[in-house]
Amino acid sequence: MMARITASVFTSHVPAIGAAMDLGKTREPYWQPLFAGYEPGRAWLRERRPDVVFLIYNDHANAFSLDLIPTFAIGTAARYEIADEGWGPRPVPAVQGHPELAAHIAQSVIQEDFDLTLVNRMSVDHGLTVPLSLMCGQPPADDFRWPFAVIPFAVNVVQYPVPSGRRCFALGQAIRRAVESFGQDLDVQVWGTGGMSHQLQGPRAGLINRAWDNAFLDRLIADPAGLAQVPHVEYVREAGSEGIELVMWLIARAAMADVAGGAAPRVAQRFYHVPASNTAVGHLILEET
Ligand code: DHB
Ligand code: FE
Repeated sequence: MMARITASVFTSHVPAIGAAMDLGKTREPYWQPLFAGYEPGRAWLRERRPDVVFLIYNDHANAFSLDLIPTFAIGTAARYEIADEGWGPRPVPAVQGHPELAAHIAQSVIQEDFDLTLVNRMSVDHGLTVPLSLMCGQPPADDFRWPFAVIPFAVNVVQYPVPSGRRCFALGQAIRRAVESFGQDLDVQVWGTGGMSHQLQGPRAGLINRAWDNAFLDRLIADPAGLAQVPHVEYVREAGSEGIELVMWLIARAAMADVAGGAAPRVAQRFYHVPASNTAVGHLILEET
Protein backbone atom coordinates (compact mmCIF):
# COMPACT_ATOMS: atom_id res chain seq x y z
CA MET A 1 0.00 0.00 0.00
CA MET A 2 1.42 3.27 -1.13
CA ALA A 3 0.38 6.62 -2.48
CA ARG A 4 1.21 7.07 -6.16
CA ILE A 5 1.30 9.90 -8.66
CA THR A 6 -0.89 9.04 -11.64
CA ALA A 7 -0.89 12.24 -13.70
CA SER A 8 0.11 15.88 -13.90
CA VAL A 9 -2.12 18.71 -15.09
CA PHE A 10 -0.92 22.14 -16.18
CA THR A 11 -3.07 25.22 -16.64
CA SER A 12 -3.13 29.01 -16.54
CA HIS A 13 -5.17 30.66 -13.77
CA VAL A 14 -6.44 33.94 -15.28
CA PRO A 15 -8.87 35.53 -12.76
CA ALA A 16 -11.24 36.71 -15.53
CA ILE A 17 -11.90 33.00 -16.31
CA GLY A 18 -13.31 32.56 -12.81
CA ALA A 19 -15.42 35.70 -13.24
CA ALA A 20 -16.71 34.44 -16.63
CA MET A 21 -17.87 31.21 -14.95
CA ASP A 22 -19.33 32.93 -11.91
CA LEU A 23 -21.27 35.42 -14.08
CA GLY A 24 -22.56 32.85 -16.59
CA LYS A 25 -20.55 34.16 -19.58
CA THR A 26 -18.88 30.94 -20.71
CA ARG A 27 -20.96 30.70 -23.92
CA GLU A 28 -20.18 34.22 -25.06
CA PRO A 29 -18.11 34.33 -28.28
CA TYR A 30 -15.06 35.67 -26.45
CA TRP A 31 -15.01 32.82 -23.91
CA GLN A 32 -16.56 29.87 -25.77
CA PRO A 33 -13.33 28.68 -27.52
CA LEU A 34 -11.42 28.85 -24.22
CA PHE A 35 -13.93 26.70 -22.32
CA ALA A 36 -14.20 24.29 -25.27
CA GLY A 37 -10.48 23.63 -24.84
CA TYR A 38 -11.10 22.40 -21.28
CA GLU A 39 -13.98 20.02 -22.12
CA PRO A 40 -11.64 17.06 -22.88
CA GLY A 41 -9.80 17.66 -19.62
CA ARG A 42 -13.03 17.75 -17.61
CA ALA A 43 -14.15 14.45 -19.18
CA TRP A 44 -10.71 12.94 -18.52
CA LEU A 45 -10.83 14.05 -14.88
CA ARG A 46 -14.30 12.53 -14.34
CA GLU A 47 -12.82 9.18 -15.46
CA ARG A 48 -9.54 9.50 -13.58
CA ARG A 49 -10.70 11.17 -10.41
CA PRO A 50 -7.83 11.30 -7.88
CA ASP A 51 -8.07 11.13 -4.10
CA VAL A 52 -5.77 14.11 -3.68
CA VAL A 53 -4.48 16.91 -5.91
CA PHE A 54 -1.15 18.46 -4.92
CA LEU A 55 -1.81 21.91 -6.38
CA ILE A 56 1.17 24.18 -7.04
CA TYR A 57 0.11 27.82 -7.44
CA ASN A 58 0.95 31.32 -6.40
CA ASP A 59 -0.87 33.60 -4.04
CA HIS A 60 -1.38 37.15 -5.34
CA ALA A 61 -0.97 39.15 -2.10
CA ASN A 62 -4.26 37.77 -0.72
CA ALA A 63 -3.22 35.17 1.88
CA PHE A 64 0.28 36.63 2.15
CA SER A 65 1.47 40.22 1.80
CA LEU A 66 4.78 42.05 1.74
CA ASP A 67 4.83 41.44 5.53
CA LEU A 68 5.65 37.77 5.01
CA ILE A 69 6.92 36.19 1.77
CA PRO A 70 7.48 32.43 1.94
CA THR A 71 9.34 31.04 -1.07
CA PHE A 72 7.65 27.62 -0.77
CA ALA A 73 4.62 27.14 1.51
CA ILE A 74 2.74 23.86 2.02
CA GLY A 75 -0.84 23.86 3.27
CA THR A 76 -1.23 21.39 6.16
CA ALA A 77 -4.79 22.39 7.12
CA ALA A 78 -8.02 20.39 6.84
CA ARG A 79 -9.87 23.27 5.15
CA TYR A 80 -9.11 26.48 3.25
CA GLU A 81 -11.56 29.34 2.86
CA ILE A 82 -11.92 31.21 -0.43
CA ALA A 83 -10.08 34.55 -0.42
CA ASP A 84 -11.87 37.84 -0.84
CA GLU A 85 -9.90 39.49 -3.66
CA GLY A 86 -11.81 42.76 -3.46
CA TRP A 87 -15.12 41.72 -5.04
CA GLY A 88 -16.10 39.26 -2.30
CA PRO A 89 -15.04 35.60 -2.29
CA ARG A 90 -15.81 33.60 -5.48
CA PRO A 91 -19.01 31.51 -5.06
CA VAL A 92 -17.12 28.22 -5.10
CA PRO A 93 -16.78 25.58 -2.35
CA ALA A 94 -14.13 25.90 0.34
CA VAL A 95 -11.20 23.55 -0.29
CA GLN A 96 -10.79 20.36 1.76
CA GLY A 97 -7.16 19.57 2.55
CA HIS A 98 -5.31 16.35 3.35
CA PRO A 99 -3.40 17.09 6.57
CA GLU A 100 -1.86 13.60 6.88
CA LEU A 101 -0.31 13.49 3.41
CA ALA A 102 0.67 17.17 3.63
CA ALA A 103 2.46 16.60 6.94
CA HIS A 104 4.23 13.57 5.50
CA ILE A 105 5.39 15.51 2.42
CA ALA A 106 6.58 18.37 4.63
CA GLN A 107 8.53 15.94 6.83
CA SER A 108 10.11 14.15 3.87
CA VAL A 109 10.96 17.23 1.78
CA ILE A 110 12.31 19.28 4.70
CA GLN A 111 14.51 16.33 5.71
CA GLU A 112 15.82 16.43 2.13
CA ASP A 113 16.94 20.04 2.79
CA PHE A 114 14.11 22.03 1.14
CA ASP A 115 13.02 24.82 3.48
CA LEU A 116 9.22 24.80 3.34
CA THR A 117 6.94 27.12 5.31
CA LEU A 118 4.12 25.21 7.05
CA VAL A 119 0.74 26.89 6.72
CA ASN A 120 -1.98 25.77 9.12
CA ARG A 121 -4.39 28.53 8.15
CA MET A 122 -4.78 30.52 4.93
CA SER A 123 -7.33 31.47 2.32
CA VAL A 124 -6.82 30.51 -1.34
CA ASP A 125 -7.16 32.96 -4.24
CA HIS A 126 -7.71 32.70 -8.02
CA GLY A 127 -4.29 31.09 -8.43
CA LEU A 128 -5.81 27.93 -6.90
CA THR A 129 -9.55 28.28 -7.47
CA VAL A 130 -9.50 29.08 -11.20
CA PRO A 131 -7.60 25.84 -12.08
CA LEU A 132 -10.17 23.90 -9.98
CA SER A 133 -13.06 25.66 -11.74
CA LEU A 134 -11.56 25.06 -15.18
CA MET A 135 -10.98 21.36 -14.59
CA CYS A 136 -14.06 20.53 -12.48
CA GLY A 137 -16.70 23.03 -13.54
CA GLN A 138 -19.01 24.45 -10.89
CA PRO A 139 -20.02 21.78 -8.32
CA PRO A 140 -23.81 21.31 -8.13
CA ALA A 141 -25.76 23.06 -5.36
CA ASP A 142 -26.95 19.73 -3.86
CA ASP A 143 -23.37 18.40 -3.59
CA PHE A 144 -21.43 21.60 -3.14
CA ARG A 145 -17.81 20.47 -2.77
CA TRP A 146 -14.76 19.79 -4.89
CA PRO A 147 -14.50 16.11 -5.91
CA PHE A 148 -11.12 15.50 -4.21
CA ALA A 149 -8.90 16.78 -1.41
CA VAL A 150 -6.34 19.45 -2.30
CA ILE A 151 -2.93 20.17 -0.79
CA PRO A 152 -2.17 23.82 -1.66
CA PHE A 153 1.50 24.47 -2.37
CA ALA A 154 2.22 28.19 -2.74
CA VAL A 155 5.34 29.45 -4.53
CA ASN A 156 6.53 33.04 -4.42
CA VAL A 157 6.69 34.24 -8.02
CA VAL A 158 5.43 37.73 -7.19
CA GLN A 159 8.21 39.45 -5.21
CA TYR A 160 11.87 39.06 -6.19
CA PRO A 161 13.93 37.06 -5.44
CA VAL A 162 11.86 34.13 -6.76
CA PRO A 163 13.11 30.52 -6.90
CA SER A 164 14.93 29.28 -10.01
CA GLY A 165 13.52 26.73 -12.42
CA ARG A 166 16.38 24.46 -11.37
CA ARG A 167 15.32 24.66 -7.71
CA CYS A 168 11.68 24.05 -8.61
CA PHE A 169 12.64 20.98 -10.64
CA ALA A 170 14.70 19.46 -7.80
CA LEU A 171 11.82 20.14 -5.41
CA GLY A 172 9.38 18.29 -7.67
CA GLN A 173 11.66 15.26 -7.63
CA ALA A 174 11.70 15.35 -3.81
CA ILE A 175 7.89 15.66 -3.74
CA ARG A 176 7.65 12.49 -5.84
CA ARG A 177 9.82 10.59 -3.35
CA ALA A 178 7.69 11.93 -0.50
CA VAL A 179 4.37 10.87 -2.06
CA GLU A 180 5.73 7.43 -2.92
CA SER A 181 6.81 6.83 0.67
CA PHE A 182 3.36 7.58 2.16
CA GLY A 183 1.89 4.30 3.41
CA GLN A 184 -1.73 4.84 2.37
CA ASP A 185 -3.28 3.77 -0.90
CA LEU A 186 -3.96 7.15 -2.53
CA ASP A 187 -4.25 8.28 -6.16
CA VAL A 188 -2.43 11.61 -6.30
CA GLN A 189 -2.27 14.10 -9.17
CA VAL A 190 0.20 16.97 -9.24
CA TRP A 191 -1.00 20.19 -10.85
CA GLY A 192 1.25 23.04 -11.99
CA THR A 193 -0.55 26.34 -12.56
CA GLY A 194 -0.01 29.95 -13.68
CA GLY A 195 1.43 31.37 -16.90
CA MET A 196 1.71 31.34 -19.83
CA SER A 197 3.18 34.53 -21.30
CA HIS A 198 1.70 37.71 -19.87
CA GLN A 199 2.75 41.07 -18.54
CA LEU A 200 0.27 43.19 -16.60
CA GLN A 201 2.16 46.46 -16.17
CA GLY A 202 4.68 48.84 -17.67
CA PRO A 203 5.45 49.68 -21.30
CA ARG A 204 5.24 46.00 -22.37
CA ALA A 205 1.80 45.39 -20.75
CA GLY A 206 -0.18 42.99 -22.96
CA LEU A 207 2.91 41.08 -24.13
CA ILE A 208 2.14 37.59 -25.51
CA ASN A 209 4.77 35.29 -27.08
CA ARG A 210 3.10 32.36 -28.86
CA ALA A 211 6.31 30.89 -30.26
CA TRP A 212 8.06 30.88 -26.89
CA ASP A 213 4.98 29.46 -25.11
CA ASN A 214 4.65 26.59 -27.57
CA ALA A 215 8.35 25.81 -27.38
CA PHE A 216 7.94 25.75 -23.57
CA LEU A 217 5.12 23.18 -23.92
CA ASP A 218 7.25 21.07 -26.30
CA ARG A 219 10.18 21.05 -23.88
CA LEU A 220 8.00 20.52 -20.81
CA ILE A 221 6.80 17.29 -22.44
CA ALA A 222 10.06 16.02 -23.96
CA ASP A 223 13.00 17.76 -22.25
CA PRO A 224 11.95 18.92 -18.78
CA ALA A 225 15.44 18.63 -17.26
CA GLY A 226 16.85 20.84 -20.01
CA LEU A 227 13.98 23.32 -19.60
CA ALA A 228 14.75 23.56 -15.88
CA GLN A 229 18.10 25.19 -16.76
CA VAL A 230 16.42 28.24 -18.37
CA PRO A 231 17.29 31.32 -16.24
CA HIS A 232 14.74 33.84 -14.90
CA VAL A 233 15.85 36.57 -17.24
CA GLU A 234 14.70 34.52 -20.23
CA TYR A 235 11.18 34.04 -18.76
CA VAL A 236 10.84 37.74 -18.07
CA ARG A 237 12.31 38.85 -21.40
CA GLU A 238 10.41 36.35 -23.57
CA ALA A 239 7.21 35.65 -21.59
CA GLY A 240 6.75 38.94 -19.71
CA SER A 241 7.05 39.82 -16.02
CA GLU A 242 4.17 37.49 -15.02
CA GLY A 243 5.39 34.73 -17.36
CA ILE A 244 7.75 33.83 -14.52
CA GLU A 245 4.75 31.97 -13.00
CA LEU A 246 5.72 29.15 -15.39
CA VAL A 247 8.59 28.01 -13.14
CA MET A 248 5.84 26.41 -11.04
CA TRP A 249 5.04 23.98 -13.88
CA LEU A 250 8.53 22.51 -13.45
CA ILE A 251 7.70 21.35 -9.90
CA ALA A 252 4.76 19.30 -11.17
CA ARG A 253 6.64 18.00 -14.20
CA ALA A 254 9.60 16.83 -12.10
CA ALA A 255 7.26 14.69 -9.98
CA MET A 256 6.53 12.40 -12.97
CA ALA A 257 8.01 8.90 -13.31
CA ASP A 258 10.25 9.52 -16.35
CA VAL A 259 12.31 12.11 -14.44
CA ALA A 260 13.07 9.34 -11.90
CA GLY A 261 14.11 6.92 -14.68
CA GLY A 262 10.67 5.49 -15.52
CA ALA A 263 8.55 5.50 -18.67
CA ALA A 264 7.60 8.70 -20.50
CA PRO A 265 4.07 9.98 -19.78
CA ARG A 266 1.27 10.02 -22.36
CA VAL A 267 0.03 13.44 -23.53
CA ALA A 268 -3.72 13.21 -22.82
CA GLN A 269 -4.47 16.84 -23.69
CA ARG A 270 -2.66 19.86 -25.11
CA PHE A 271 -4.37 23.22 -25.63
CA TYR A 272 -3.19 26.77 -26.28
CA HIS A 273 -5.43 29.79 -26.61
CA VAL A 274 -5.04 33.56 -26.95
CA PRO A 275 -6.55 35.77 -25.66
CA ALA A 276 -7.95 35.33 -22.17
CA SER A 277 -7.85 38.70 -20.47
CA ASN A 278 -4.18 39.77 -20.77
CA THR A 279 -2.86 36.22 -20.77
CA ALA A 280 -1.96 33.37 -23.11
CA VAL A 281 -3.66 30.24 -21.79
CA GLY A 282 -1.83 26.92 -21.88
CA HIS A 283 -3.12 23.55 -20.74
CA LEU A 284 -1.52 20.12 -20.70
CA ILE A 285 -2.41 16.74 -19.17
CA LEU A 286 0.33 14.11 -18.82
CA GLU A 287 -0.69 10.70 -17.56
CA GLU A 288 1.57 7.93 -16.34
CA THR A 289 1.61 4.87 -18.57
C1 DHB B 1 -4.23 38.31 -15.13
C2 DHB B 1 -3.43 37.17 -15.14
C3 DHB B 1 -2.90 36.67 -13.94
O1 DHB B 1 -2.06 35.59 -13.87
C4 DHB B 1 -3.20 37.28 -12.74
O2 DHB B 1 -2.74 36.72 -11.60
C5 DHB B 1 -3.99 38.43 -12.72
C6 DHB B 1 -4.50 38.95 -13.91
C7 DHB B 1 -4.81 38.84 -16.40
O3 DHB B 1 -4.63 38.27 -17.46
O4 DHB B 1 -5.49 39.86 -16.33
FE1 FE C 1 -1.24 35.18 -11.76
